[in-house]
Amino acid sequence: MKKQKLENYQNAVKDVKSKVKYDGSHPELAARLEKEILDTNPGVKWDDVAGLSDAKRILQETVVLPLFMPEYFQRIRRPWRGVLMFGPPGTGKTLLAKAVATECGMTFMNISCSSLFGNWYGESERLTRCLFELARAHAPTMNFIDDIDSLCKHETSRRLKSELLVQIDGLNNSNSTSGKMVTLLAATNFPGNLDEALRRRLEKRIYIPLPYFETRKELIQINLKSIELAPEVDIEQVAQKTEGYSGDDLTNICRDASLNGMRQKIAGKTIHEIKNILKSEMLKIPVTMEDFLEAVDKIKPTVSSGDIQRHEKWYSEFGSS
Ligand SMILES: Nc1ncnc2c1ncn2[C@@H]1O[C@H](COP(=O)(O)OP(=O)(O)O)[C@@H](O)[C@H]1O
Ligand SMILES: [Mg+2]
Repeated sequence: MKKQKLENYQNAVKDVKSKVKYDGSHPELAARLEKEILDTNPGVKWDDVAGLSDAKRILQETVVLPLFMPEYFQRIRRPWRGVLMFGPPGTGKTLLAKAVATECGMTFMNISCSSLFGNWYGESERLTRCLFELARAHAPTMNFIDDIDSLCKHETSRRLKSELLVQIDGLNNSNSTSGKMVTLLAATNFPGNLDEALRRRLEKRIYIPLPYFETRKELIQINLKSIELAPEVDIEQVAQKTEGYSGDDLTNICRDASLNGMRQKIAGKTIHEIKNILKSEMLKIPVTMEDFLEAVDKIKPTVSSGDIQRHEKWYSEFGSS
């Protein structure tokens, strides 16, 4: 019986190893992490991200070029240890991280700090170590740590954090010697909560602001790519009316506006009548300017001006670009 169990376990381990190309000492943790965080093809293109040209340029210099020209990025030109994107929520930080990984053909590891919290004593450290081993096994890899500030919040995660710092320190060495590039990109909505130790390792700190007028226009166009619009729809006017809205807010406005035609069409009808409306008929209803204006009225911006001030203050103190 025991032998059977052992064999099952060994087979499971073998199976995991063959799948993840991982040959570290914790295949079961690796398998768990792989399930939670590994995304081999996030499928977001540069063009899906509106605006943010500064951030794109910096990410190209810090992530993309070192990957393509490792010989150039040695010694004093060594790649930055870690890059931080900070800014209000819904401004495209996660989207941009995915776009970088897609454009570079990198494995994308989308890590939320909660996936590193273990149940047992010492498990968090093992998970963290394992995460970086896994990243090297899948290199080139982008380790994207979302909401990295949450590491500085809980007393209980101190051991996890010190292991993470050790691993970040090790990144540079492995980059330059083995050619297996693992890049650390982190994001936060609360940069002020980062302590000095983490801040120091996130050497490049990029501000991702709320979208400006031009970016809002581009963002609305991206969202409406496959949607039928009435001829009078004036995207410039929608962009003008949405100062202070985040990219996520704007996406919500577009979604809401684009559903309005359907709402009107089914108003007062029974389920049976609705079933009989032709799908093609539904798809042909164009989105009107009125739909947009209604949606703008209904959906309020989520980011407050206090939030913006907090970010700008941190940017002037600690930002780099
Ligand atoms: N610059 C942008 N270009 C295109 N879409 C955006 C942009 N910023 C935000 N969005 C929209 O908002 C959603 C949330 O963005 P996300 O990247 O998760 O924000 P963050 O990580 O900064 O909180 C995206 O899925 C996208 O629909
Ligand atoms: Mg995000």
